[in-house]
Amino acid sequence: MFVDSLETLRKRRSAKWRTYPADVLPLAVAEMDCSLAPPITAALRAAVDAADTGYSAAQPDLGQALAGFAARRWGWQIDPSAVTAITDVGVGAVELLRMLTRPADVVLISPPVYPPFFDWAPEAGAQLREVPLTADYRLDLPALEAAFAAHPAVYLLCNPHNPVGRVHTHDELAALVRLAKLYDVTIISDEIHSPLVLPGAEFTPMLAVPGAAQVAVSLVSASKAFNLTGLKCAAIVTGSPAMAALVDRFPQDIRWRTGHFGVLATVAAYTAGDAWLDGLLAELDTRRAQLGDQLRTRLPKVSWQPPEATYLAWLDCRALGDDDEPRELFLSRGRVGLEPGTRFGARGAGFVRLNFGTSADILDEATARMASATGR
Ligand SMILES: Cc1ncc(COP(=O)(O)O)c(C=O)c1O
Repeated sequence: MFVDSLETLRKRRSAKWRTYPADVLPLAVAEMDCSLAPPITAALRAAVDAADTGYSAAQPDLGQALAGFAARRWGWQIDPSAVTAITDVGVGAVELLRMLTRPADVVLISPPVYPPFFDWAPEAGAQLREVPLTADYRLDLPALEAAFAAHPAVYLLCNPHNPVGRVHTHDELAALVRLAKLYDVTIISDEIHSPLVLPGAEFTPMLAVPGAAQVAVSLVSASKAFNLTGLKCAAIVTGSPAMAALVDRFPQDIRWRTGHFGVLATVAAYTAGDAWLDGLLAELDTRRAQLGDQLRTRLPKVSWQPPEATYLAWLDCRALGDDDEPRELFLSRGRVGLEPGTRFGARGAGFVRLNFGTSADILDEATARMASATGR
């Protein structure tokens, strides 16, 4: 499932393999070193063979495929016609924010969080406020209640939460829904990592929480779990007329901006990708354990909470020294490329994010190099 050979991987021309010089192991950008699920390869090959490279026509296939996947994986019932294809999750978030905010309106986020969360509200012309996660990386519900009471327009939720890998619980989501109703705040739930919930945790789709459909809209995608980020297809899901009306107000041209290969690959993933995905999750579980072992033995000053989801590890390197950006040490002395913690908010000082969506050998080499960079 994961490609071992660096020589093979370096033939890839995606961002992960173009960002660093050849002697650096790139574990920063959130792409995996996996091969494609066979049903996806078949769908894309068939499209190339048929010169089927025109504009996308996502519906009804995308809605039906996603509804099947959501019902099988999470028992979440989606109306296929309430699914709207969108270029990617970022575009979906910004377009929703444009509909939901005016210039003085506030959008709340909970850092440390995926860096573009800091950019999407300003891009849509709104103001940003931060309500950080608690020290153990949970939603800070009392702080959120205080912030909701000031009537922001939107809370941008990340579930599962990148970079810490937290899967928010049903009770936490229900509490958010209660606050959203009480203070008239709309929740945009970014669930891009939801197919990547690892053994031991359970994912609750926001719109499966009672009452959520009136106040929340979800963004999903097969792109992270099936490694399709370059193909440009995600989906907005609504569960009430009020939320569907937001999407109805989108500019007409948006429907032409989703990738046709993205739609084809996503439909293949959602309809015939379960077995491959189960294999991936089992392998990521093993890789998570490997990383835990190697951190303990090779980098004992680096601490972490193993993620409940995703292939991303949020590593606390503050015990290594005063360095706010330990990423520089690992890059210059270890030749390992990691994501700098401060990109995820000020509280990321002294942290790095490591992508363990790679082979056992490459992860082994990376942690050995990181250990030698710290002088051990
Ligand atoms: C939480 C989260 N949302 C969105 C994205 C980006 O998604 P897209 O490429 O569909 O915009 C990522 C990428 O890592 C992510 O982690």
